[in-house]
Amino acid sequence: MKTYLITGGAGFIGSNYIHYLFEKYPHDTIQIINYDLLTYAGNLDNLKVFQHHPSYVFIQGDVCDRKKINTIFETYDIDYVVNLLQKVMWIEVSIIHRYLFKRMY
Ligand SMILES: NC(=O)c1ccc[n+]([C@@H]2O[C@H](COP(=O)([O-])OP(=O)(O)OC[C@H]3O[C@@H](n4cnc5c(N)ncnc54)[C@H](O)[C@@H]3O)[C@@H](O)[C@H]2O)c1
Repeated sequence: MKTYLITGGAGFIGSNYIHYLFEKYPHDTIQIINYDLLTYAGNLDNLKVFQHHPSYVFIQGDVCDRKKINTIFETYDIDYVVNLLQKVMWIEVSIIHRYLFKRMY
């Protein structure tokens, strides 16, 4: 089982990427955590089909919210982080990278 944390998963690229993952891999081999603030650009309509899927979790939040990001990394055993935010600011990326770095080294 591989767990993906997708930030910005409700956006154009993010939601299409989630469809792609579910098409590519058997559903019992992946778990997808979609973390998105749902700004004007975020839209869950394209992901309604996965709403009650056991391998899919949607969490609304800001990638800069350390507390929430902390909880996600404590709750799930994340294998991959895919950043598909509107604007990938350095601060956003560095928060996530800190956790990956801690986990890998
Ligand atoms: N759309 C394209 O054709 C294209 C092509 C090449 C690269 N990209 C890059 O891919 C990335 C995503 O593009 P897109 O078109 O899917 O963008 P988008 O605007 O459709 O989606 C971005 C998503 O990020 C979410 N978001 C924004 N700020 C957030 C925050 N602070 N915390 C959590 N979620 C937040 C929004 O709610 C939205 O769902 C961008 O970095 C873009 O530069 C896009």
